Amino acid sequence: MKGVLSERKTLHPQDIERRELPAAAGRAVRELAREISTTLDSTPHDPATMADTLTDPALIAQIDARVGELPADVRRTMRPPATAAGATIVSRLPLTDDECGPTPPSWREAAQWSGSATRRASSFELDLVMLLLARSAGEPFGWQGQQGGRLVNNILPSPGHEHEQSGASSKTLLSPHSEDAFHPARAHLLMLACLRNPDMVGTTVSSVRRVELTAEQRRLLSVPTLPILPDVSYGTGHERYSAPPLPTLWTPAGPDEATLRYDPAYTPLDDADAEFRAAYARLTAELERVCVTAALAPGEVLLVDNDVAVHGRVPFTARYDGTDRWLKRVNVRLPERPRRAEEADENGYGQRIVAPFRAAGSTAFGSGGVEPARTDGHRENDPVGTEREAAHDRGPFEHS
Ligand SMILES: [Fe+2]
Repeated sequence: MKGVLSERKTLHPQDIERRELPAAAGRAVRELAREISTTLDSTPHDPATMADTLTDPALIAQIDARVGELPADVRRTMRPPATAAGATIVSRLPLTDDECGPTPPSWREAAQWSGSATRRASSFELDLVMLLLARSAGEPFGWQGQQGGRLVNNILPSPGHEHEQSGASSKTLLSPHSEDAFHPARAHLLMLACLRNPDMVGTTVSSVRRVELTAEQRRLLSVPTLPILPDVSYGTGHERYSAPPLPTLWTPAGPDEATLRYDPAYTPLDDADAEFRAAYARLTAELERVCVTAALAPGEVLLVDNDVAVHGRVPFTARYDGTDRWLKRVNVRLPERPRRAEEADENGYGQRIVAPFRAAGSTAFGSGGVEPARTDGHRENDPVGTEREAAHDRGPFEHS
């Protein structure tokens, strides 16, 4: 069998939907972010909520009050992926390498530098760009314990984390997974914006709408059979919560509308019977077969439909010289997107999202219910805020 890693190093641009942000729309986003940054400079604020988490009420109010000023092209371009690929690359977000400054050594420095008077000129403004783009698509949110609850996460390799299953890693394959699959409030849409990627490191995407399964395999995978447990970086307290069995696939309108919830490293497959395990293994093999790689260039934004596609990252060698790959990530909720009604009863293992746009009741482009903000500090010990913030013991696509 041909190794998946060699396949993944091949870019198949035709396999992922592509859109261009019109030049005028890109300029408008940059200009509005700059105006909001200037306005906030003259507004009394707490540095901890302004740049550290981006949850300052004045910042949220500015985004919501002004996002509607952006050209309609912005919202149109940032809409969810529209093809079976479950992923879209949006190009031509204007930015220069100089304005990004050096790639920080970890997400903590990235947040600190964003708030630094000497460094914030670009990084903070780029965070506002991300929030404007995300707010054009839906409701940006964070996780209380992930990167300190920050609404815009920084994805970059960190010394000492090379072999982790995390976005701070580099040398290891980041195993494909649904983001925060264990939680009913997981993102509908992930935005991954590339500031810098000098070695063209690939992000992998596999769509469930391209897999081939038998009707019986689909039936088996649609039956709630096994739970998906929280990432280990969420701590060990999840044992206190019930672990409901979940369907891996949900296909209310047929295979063309299939969605999935997939994180094999946190799914206790040994607890299932052989028939289910075989169907799950077939799904894993199919996700590998249809895997495509997006090697993002600066100014490109990858939109991943978290209900349709799983994502990961190929291994690479970090530089640690300030020029490393640097992505910014935002989780986005789509209020109009239905999920299984039964998910409303899930406890999420006690984990909570940070959702100031929802809490503010803002309705720039629709709104949803209010998720109570968490006040304790789960995952504060999480050293890496990441594409893959959890440590996996194994990866479904790793080949020996
Ligand atoms: Fe991820």
